[in-house]
Amino acid sequence: MSKPTFYITTPIYYPSNKLHIGHSYTTVAADAMSRYKRLRGYDVMFLTGTDEHGQKIERRAAEEGVTPQAFVDNIVDWIKDLWKTMDISYDKFIRTTDEDHKVTVQKIFKALYDKGDIYKSEYEGMYCTPCETFFTEHQLVDGKCPDCGRPVEKVKEESYFFKLSKYQDRLIKHIEDHPEFIQPQTRQNEMLNNFLRPGLEDLCVSRTSFKWGIPVEFDTNHVVYVWLDALSNYISALGYGSDNQELYNKFWPADVHLVGKEIIRFHTIIWPAILMALDLPLPKQVFGHGWLVIDGGKMSKSKGNVVDPSVLVNRYGSDAIRYFLLREIAFGQDGNFTNEALISRINSDLANDLGNLTSRTVAMIEKYFEGGVLPEVHEGNEFDADVQQIITEQIAKMEANMEKLFFNNALEDIWVIIRRFNKYIDETMPWVLAKDEANKAKLAGVLYTLAEGLRIVSIMIEPFMPRTPELIWEQIGLTRGELTAWDTIHTWGTMPNTVHAKKGTNMFPRIDKEKELAELEAAMKATQAAAAPQEEKPAKPKKEEITIDDFGKVELKVGEVIECEHVLKADKLLVSKIKIGDEVRQIVSGIAKYYTPEEFVGRKVVVVTNLKPVKLRGILSEGMVLCASDDEGNLVAVGPLGEMVDGAEVK
Ligand code: ME8
Ligand code: MG
Repeated sequence: MSKPTFYITTPIYYPSNKLHIGHSYTTVAADAMSRYKRLRGYDVMFLTGTDEHGQKIERRAAEEGVTPQAFVDNIVDWIKDLWKTMDISYDKFIRTTDEDHKVTVQKIFKALYDKGDIYKSEYEGMYCTPCETFFTEHQLVDGKCPDCGRPVEKVKEESYFFKLSKYQDRLIKHIEDHPEFIQPQTRQNEMLNNFLRPGLEDLCVSRTSFKWGIPVEFDTNHVVYVWLDALSNYISALGYGSDNQELYNKFWPADVHLVGKEIIRFHTIIWPAILMALDLPLPKQVFGHGWLVIDGGKMSKSKGNVVDPSVLVNRYGSDAIRYFLLREIAFGQDGNFTNEALISRINSDLANDLGNLTSRTVAMIEKYFEGGVLPEVHEGNEFDADVQQIITEQIAKMEANMEKLFFNNALEDIWVIIRRFNKYIDETMPWVLAKDEANKAKLAGVLYTLAEGLRIVSIMIEPFMPRTPELIWEQIGLTRGELTAWDTIHTWGTMPNTVHAKKGTNMFPRIDKEKELAELEAAMKATQAAAAPQEEKPAKPKKEEITIDDFGKVELKVGEVIECEHVLKADKLLVSKIKIGDEVRQIVSGIAKYYTPEEFVGRKVVVVTNLKPVKLRGILSEGMVLCASDDEGNLVAVGPLGEMVDGAEVK
């Protein structure tokens, strides 16, 4: 028999190399659900990706003097690395610049046009470039974007429109007939009352004022406006409309689209209407989660209050961060992010509850039994029935909560078990039993119960914390296999009687809160300063104090420019060959406004030689020429003040 299928998606992310912990929230949640379903025997398709078209990308690439494609390529690599550090087990990563996606979107556009659901007209409205969203005059707040509060632009141009209004009644009916379609429930009323019932306007689906998008096949002055492009990813990723529709047939309709609350509207009104127009089934559910907020405000790059997930993962490990995100915030509601809450959770739930249960169990087996192996014969005690009953109840609750995507409740359900087992140690007092040889079988029984509980718990946490289970298994003599399969948690006593215990490294060392808070704050300030948006020109933050060792990590050398030329079609860039001792490096610098290639050749400059090579405009740049830069961004290259050979170290 073929396995049941489960298709889950995250939104596709706008390319930014400053994705923050808020962004990783959607992805971590989708990952936990995907892992859970895989453990439950489903054939899972977990889709994530990037939403790469639009005016904003076009502008930012131009500012940096690179093509939009080169601009997004770099960032996408960075995003994939981030997901790797967070153990995101996506099955497919779609980019809207993928060739197949582009072809599918063109086909969809054409099909809707042929059907009469897309027509040409003229668009006049207000556009928020950072949000890639059009607004009508009355949607603006104080004349500014209602979502981000930034200024909007008035635009008027020939555009294609999608007949969204035509689907209004069918959408209302679908939502009313399928209460599970929009979750949580409160969002459903919001969509019906604020958008659907007041009436829908047709939707602008093409633009002519910028080029970075998918061309409309039959009218190439137009590019597909970004939401039609973006939303189609959920089916183009499955090969819809291509020669091979196998995945589409297998996985569509999606079981759940996970999205942040600000884009529920696009997913529960525009997307279903497009699908209705294409005569395709609708996704079974759209789940809108809340935001991670800091001091009550949404974490966002423009506010400069972002928390960099890699800083946290480096300090505490991805399992701890994943646990925190899913445990601390009730899914569907906003949750406040504070360093203090994070450290408290790590200390109380991970170090104390889970860490202690593991280390105490393992240490006692090793201490009281020869070679750390429990004997075959066990005897029960009066507390066993209660712990077993609690396990059965909590498993049922946890599984039910997972179906509803109530991750924080599911984790709490598991921690009820963990805390019950820690209490069981206090109740049974193994150290007292150990004093009398006659109690050996009873002692073995207690420790077996603990080991079996630990086994069950380790399996249950796996969707959330993919690394920790193996660390526990090593300590109780298990490896991944039959004894760690999900279904075994329903059968008490699956663990063989002869448990082999062996102490491992401390999975979650207790953190000194005061000390850690100060250090963490400093580390975050440093990344936040780097992430602050350029255009707002905040007072330049002083950089964190560093030691001579920190400085010593930067390798600086004197180099002589021996060749230099302009980079084609990038008016800011020069590419130089720079001789540094025995080697010659190719380095791209944004100095074309300040030096001609002729002027630059022959100069001695200071080069950062251990900087990771990057491609700029497709040209490899192996280092960086140091430049002084004033507030206006004027540049002067920096060099030695007296005679000095190239290759000399600068320190
Ligand atoms: O919206 N807390 O992309 P995106 C929680 N490209 N979640 C947050 C968050 C925060 N502080 N900040 C962002 C887009 N997110 C479109 C989607 S889908 C066809 C196109 C979440 O990069 C946000 O809610 O702005 C969304 O779910 C995801 O990050 C990507 O946001
Ligand atoms: Mg957004």
